[in-house]
Amino acid sequence: MDGIMQITGGGQKSRTRMMASPGQKVVLITGCSSGIGLRMAVMLAHDEQKRYHVIATMRDLKRKDKLVEAAGDAYGKTLSLAVLDVCNDESVKQCINGIKDRHVDVLINNAGIGLVGPVESIPIEEMKKVFETNFFGVIRMIKEVMPDMKKRQGGHIIVVSSVMGLQGVVFNDVYAASKFAMEGFCESLAVQLLKFNVTLSLIEPGPVHTEFEAKMIQEVKQKECPGADPETVNYFKNVYLPSSIDIFTLLGQTPDDVARVMIEAKRPRFRNLTNPFYTPIVALKYADETGSLSVNAFYHMLFSMGPLMHVCITAMKYLTCGCLRSRAISPN
Ligand SMILES: NC(=O)c1ccc[n+]([C@@H]2O[C@H](COP(=O)([O-])OP(=O)(O)OC[C@H]3O[C@@H](n4cnc5c(N)ncnc54)[C@H](OP(=O)(O)O)[C@@H]3O)[C@@H](O)[C@H]2O)c1
Repeated sequence: MDGIMQITGGGQKSRTRMMASPGQKVVLITGCSSGIGLRMAVMLAHDEQKRYHVIATMRDLKRKDKLVEAAGDAYGKTLSLAVLDVCNDESVKQCINGIKDRHVDVLINNAGIGLVGPVESIPIEEMKKVFETNFFGVIRMIKEVMPDMKKRQGGHIIVVSSVMGLQGVVFNDVYAASKFAMEGFCESLAVQLLKFNVTLSLIEPGPVHTEFEAKMIQEVKQKECPGADPETVNYFKNVYLPSSIDIFTLLGQTPDDVARVMIEAKRPRFRNLTNPFYTPIVALKYADETGSLSVNAFYHMLFSMGPLMHVCITAMKYLTCGCLRSRAISPN
């Protein structure tokens, strides 16, 4: 395929030539300015067999430098850039219309934002922004790309969810809800899509060292939490934050680890937990239909065990990482 793609948005107007060769799969990824999206884009573009042409999208091209640098020689060959804001109908349409024949073989919905804090201190508007990005942003993309995939009887839609789409985490109430919503949506849609030979896969990372983590820590430190009582604010800042930093330090994966999970396997699967540590945690939830087991376990881990939690997490890390392997799906 030799397509011209119109790039517009945020006052920026430029054109890029897309050079996907015959037989190459067109992979469109959202949120490639940093983190997991950036690494997925680079790894796919560097595929030794050059099986993919990657359209790496971001909402602001001023943030492209890290990606362009990491892509190196692949930039302009197996990787091109386009503007895309998942919260904007027009931006999504323009991007997909700019692709030759609107042909996308693999859609990777990666763009997402986090939100932490006591619920009573977060304005509803801020919560809506999370759903607008993490939930409606993905649906907006799928609505634009899926009909063509169904017509062609082929395609792969990948959604970067989170382990928090399977298990709620204290003070991440709204973020977890947005990912749970996505999981329910995908579970429902995957069945219908099979009839059209379109595959849907969820990637469920635990903590990953990206700007996401830095933004979260910054956000907690700066938050004044208006509307929340002092006891709750104390739990948030002095119990949740240190535990959260601990968890990121001990269990955090790199964006490359997550990207590899997606790329290195032979056959796509529906659910893909990238971090083996979380397999028993999710199993615990489903082992007890009353839900009390996991609620109580998390309660004791956070509020009763204090510093012991660090020891427990370290022990669990060593217990699980040797015997459980990451699952992988490849975008094909
Ligand atoms: N890091 C973790 O611990 C973790 C764990 C589980 C799941 N995840 C999920 O992984 C995905 C990627 O996150 P990350 O860790 O790589 O964080 P990140 O480094 O903050 O990357 C998020 C990306 O999403 C983009 N984005 C945000 N709003 C957007 C919008 N409206 N339209 C288009 N792009 C938008 C950001 O672009 P800008 O540069 O313009 O802001 C950025 O490129 C998210 O869906 C997140 O929920 C992350």
